[in-house]
Formats: sequence, structure tokens, C-alpha cells
Amino acid sequence: MVLTPQRIGVVGAGMMGSEIALVFAMAGFDVRLNDAGPDRLDAALANLAKVLDKGAGRGLWPAEMVAPTLERIRPTTELADFADRDFVIEAVFEDEAVKAEVFRRLDAVCTADCLLASNTSSISITVLSSALPPGRRPRFLGTHFFSPVSRMKLVEVIPGLDTASDAVEQAIAACTAAGKTAIRVKDVAGFAVNRLLHAFLIEAMRLAEEGVATPADLDAACRLGLGHPIGPFEMMDLVSNSLVLQVQEVMADAYGDRFRPPPLLKQMVKAGYDGRRAGRGWHVAKGGVG
Ligand SMILES: NC(=O)c1ccc[n+]([C@@H]2O[C@H](COP(=O)([O-])OP(=O)(O)OC[C@H]3O[C@@H](n4cnc5c(N)ncnc54)[C@H](O)[C@@H]3O)[C@@H](O)[C@H]2O)c1
Repeated sequence: MVLTPQRIGVVGAGMMGSEIALVFAMAGFDVRLNDAGPDRLDAALANLAKVLDKGAGRGLWPAEMVAPTLERIRPTTELADFADRDFVIEAVFEDEAVKAEVFRRLDAVCTADCLLASNTSSISITVLSSALPPGRRPRFLGTHFFSPVSRMKLVEVIPGLDTASDAVEQAIAACTAAGKTAIRVKDVAGFAVNRLLHAFLIEAMRLAEEGVATPADLDAACRLGLGHPIGPFEMMDLVSNSLVLQVQEVMADAYGDRFRPPPLLKQMVKAGYDGRRAGRGWHVAKGGVG
């Protein structure tokens, strides 16, 4: 029988980490959410309250669920508070050194049985696990959630070279209990979904570069002609163009020219057209190029 972890910890209360905490809290798990400063935690919880209220307003869940769900997420700026956690998911900045430092600190605090996972989009799980002592590596793996986590059902579960099979099964059990469908994916650059997604995004940008159609029309084409819920340029604005570029650079390094980021994307990022958070991007605000 697979023992499902019950006490969840999430490090990083940004766009991904806060909603990862939310889906576990909605499923009844006890959750601790860590970020570097109290302001980030306050902002994350205020945003989660809005997400919950909006869902209740749309009839996605009962309004009575909102307050108890929020109460199950206890914020903390101290990783020492993670000593009793069974499963800790890291969702800090996409930077190998920052993540490695978080895992070294978690290793010092967490019990030997605690499962440690990274939500990285582009860093190898096996490489990240090398920040941990060899004895911890069998309990370390990747759990790649998708944005917005409260709506996207998939999680890619990625074992590294040293990950034990019971750790994979426990992570899958916890994600399943949180309402997600987990698929097991090998530790290759881009895992499975980003390989598919970025081939598609790169082709969309090439079409825009060649002037075949505008970003706005290409988004309409994907929504209306392919049945996608969101167009490729809308999606890049949402996740940030700098993250798209970062992932494509890693994938180009791994697979060569087929994932080379288009010059237009590099130009956009360098000029500060980073998407929704920057207030300008392919579509966003007046400065959008779409
Ligand atoms: N944005 C996406 O669509 C998406 C999708 C899948 C995976 N990811 C991955 O998820 C991770 C987080 O992405 P995001 O978009 O939520 O980023 P974000 O910038 O919104 O949030 C990162 C958070 O981590 C916090 N943080 C940074 N260093 C920390 C530390 N040492 N200790 C505690 N907190 C720290 C920051 O204060 C910030 O609140 C990244 O690895 C990213 O690649 C992102």
C-alpha cells in the first residue's frame, strides 16, 4: 500500500507555489507555505482568497469551503517550520543556484522520510538532486504543475537517476489526492509537455516574424480553428516571455536548432515586453505588438 503524504510544504509563494498550496488545501491537506518575506505571503494569501471567491461565485465549489481552505494554508518565512512535513514542493525562481540552496536548507530541516520535489520547468532533476547528499536523493524528484494550477489537471512526475520507486508512487498518490492526473516522465530537457508546447510556440512566432498573420489573428486561429482555450501569444504573455525564452534556450542547448528561440522573442524580452506582469507583451496594454 502506498502511504500518501499528509503534511505538505511549499517553498515559494509566487504564481505557481501559492496555487500548488491551494490545491492541496482544497483537498483537505495541512499546508505550510514559505516565502522569503511576509509581504509576498500576504499578497499570495490575498490572491488565493480572490481565486477561491471567484470559483465559489461561479459555482465551482461551495462558498462554505473558502474560509476552511484558507485556514489550512499556514504561511511562514522560516523553513525551520517544515520539520514536520511529509512532502515539500519547491517553486522558487527558475535559478539552479537558488533552488540548490533551498534544497540544502530543506535537507537540514526535514526528516529523512520527507519527500522533496521541484516544480522546475527546465532544470534537470538529476542535476538538481546533486545539491543534496546521496542519502537524500532517493526521496527527491520533479513534480511539474501547470499554470493556473487551480484549473490545470496535469502534473508531470519526473524521477531523477537516483529517485526510489516508492517516492514516485507517493508523489503520484499525493497529486492524485489533490485532484490532479499525474503522468510519469523521463528527466529530459523540457520533460514531455514543454517539448510539445515549445515546438508549437516557436512555429507560432516564426509565422508572426514572417508576417504570415498577426499574433492576435494567430491566437484567434488556435482558439477557433484548433479548439485551444488560449492562443500561443496570449499564453506567452501570461507565463512571461522571459520564462519562455529561458526554457527554449535550455531546449536548444539539448536538442539543437529545432528549439532555437526566434530572434523576435529575444528582442521582445530584451526590450522589456515580458507579458502580463510587465504590463506589456504580445497583447498587453498599449505597448503590445499583437
Ligand atoms: N509560470 C509558469 O507558468 C510555470 C509553470 C510550470 C513551472 N514553473 C516553475 O515554477 C517555479 C516558480 O515559478 P513562478 O512563475 O511561480 O515564479 P514567481 O516569480 O511567481 O514566484 C517565485 C517565488 O519564489 C520566492 N522565492 C525566491 N527565492 C526564494 C527562497 N530562497 N526562499 C523562499 N522563497 C523564495 C519569490 O519571493 C517568489 O514569491 C519556477 O521554477 C518556474 O520555472 C512555472
